[in-house]
Amino acid sequence: MLDYSKFLKYSKPGPRYTSYPTALEFSDAYEYDTYIKKMEAQDSSRPLSLYFHLPFCKNACYFCGCSVVFTSKEDKMLRYMEYLKRELEILSKHLDCKRQVIQMHFGGGTPTFFTADQLKIIIDEIKSYFPNFIEGAEISCEIDPRHINEDQMRVMSEAGFNRVSFGIQDFNEKVQIAVHRVQPYSITKDAMDLARKYNMLSVNVDLIYGLPFQTLETFKETLALAITLNPDRFAVFNYAHVPWLKKTMRKIDETTLPLPDEKLAIMQYTIDFLTSNGYKMIGMDHFAKPEDELFKAIEKGELHRNFQGYTTKGGADLIGVGLTSIGEGADSYNQNFKVMVEYEEAIDAGRLPFERGVVLNADDQIRQYVIMELMSNFKIDIERFNKLFDVDFSTYFADALEELKPFAEDDLLTMDDKSIVCSETGTLLIRNIAMPFDAYMHQHKASKKTFSKTV
Ligand SMILES: C[S@@+](CC[C@H](N)C(=O)[O-])C[C@H]1O[C@@H](n2cnc3c(N)ncnc32)[C@H](O)[C@@H]1O
Repeated sequence: MLDYSKFLKYSKPGPRYTSYPTALEFSDAYEYDTYIKKMEAQDSSRPLSLYFHLPFCKNACYFCGCSVVFTSKEDKMLRYMEYLKRELEILSKHLDCKRQVIQMHFGGGTPTFFTADQLKIIIDEIKSYFPNFIEGAEISCEIDPRHINEDQMRVMSEAGFNRVSFGIQDFNEKVQIAVHRVQPYSITKDAMDLARKYNMLSVNVDLIYGLPFQTLETFKETLALAITLNPDRFAVFNYAHVPWLKKTMRKIDETTLPLPDEKLAIMQYTIDFLTSNGYKMIGMDHFAKPEDELFKAIEKGELHRNFQGYTTKGGADLIGVGLTSIGEGADSYNQNFKVMVEYEEAIDAGRLPFERGVVLNADDQIRQYVIMELMSNFKIDIERFNKLFDVDFSTYFADALEELKPFAEDDLLTMDDKSIVCSETGTLLIRNIAMPFDAYMHQHKASKKTFSKTV
């Protein structure tokens, strides 16, 4: 049995490290002209991963931390489709779109808020610019089960989509009401049946722990129901409560949120429950069946983390299209405008809607490697690191190693000259373990209101 009280001291604000440096370091010091030059200089032999942000939702889910535009007006959506097309047109002038595409993801918002016909137009448009999707490319879409019908699923399946991700969050009605997302089990079950009918290779479901009124007991019931859907993967996210950034989160009564010890108990139960039902834990918050390709990647130490979570597809340049979307090159991150008017104005001016980003210096690149290794593979092979960067790990990270000593004392990791390896429990606190390697963390310590809590 775990002694949870030991971990409570680790409950503090911290990044989720979908990137390093984190989005807080993105700024307009990275200028448009440099961004364009970098894009034009990309190595054409590197494959592409495409991300499309389809931001519309009809109603607000109060927990939602995503970048969303609320609307029920169709003309807004048609207008957005037009701008996406024009963004692709401009992009094709700066990027070799004939490169191989190994991955494409539609994120939201609610991508399936677009009708089947609209989705088909968007997909056809993309394929007219990017004709070289490899056989078996990983093509996925985030789906709100309340907004999916057979025509949409068919269009996606015919276009080669082979992965879908359903948002469940929690099945408990009281929780659902408190977060303004009422979604009975039958709706999720119907969506799941559709995905199976259209032969999706992998179906993921999203749950969140840390939502209002959740207890270990209610979450046990949610998990018991969720497992009857037999998904290939589970994402079980720690609720990131950042009401200073997200207005809708202010509608959540903070006194109803579960406390850190309850949340740790939920997470520990989730791990025990899912692993005893044949799933394996991957990374911080994902679980998958053992035959999943992610495991082979873990065994080879080749799991990667990007803005969409965990993937086996490393070494690709990520191109983000649409409002707020983020792209990633070999040594940079870039983000599009977050405000629709500004996004449109840029495109009207014939420019890519790039707003800001960051170019990684040598130190950033070293730390990015270490943090991403920890977040994905839960270990650092120090010899491999020393060879890769021609830097002595123990000297370079003497401070970080000092900060990690209490983690070793708490059996959250072991470290010696050759490696740092997290224990199974340590993986639960992987954000904390990564933080000592983050050069920007010290600057942010003064302000508590920047990241969500790690526990
Ligand atoms: C873009 S959203 C969901 C897509 C779709 N609109 C839906 O609601 O089903 C992707 C996932 O992010 C997770 N998520 C959103 N806000 C979160 C937060 N504040 N903390 C943790 N996870 C969050 C949810 O699990 C959600 O399903």
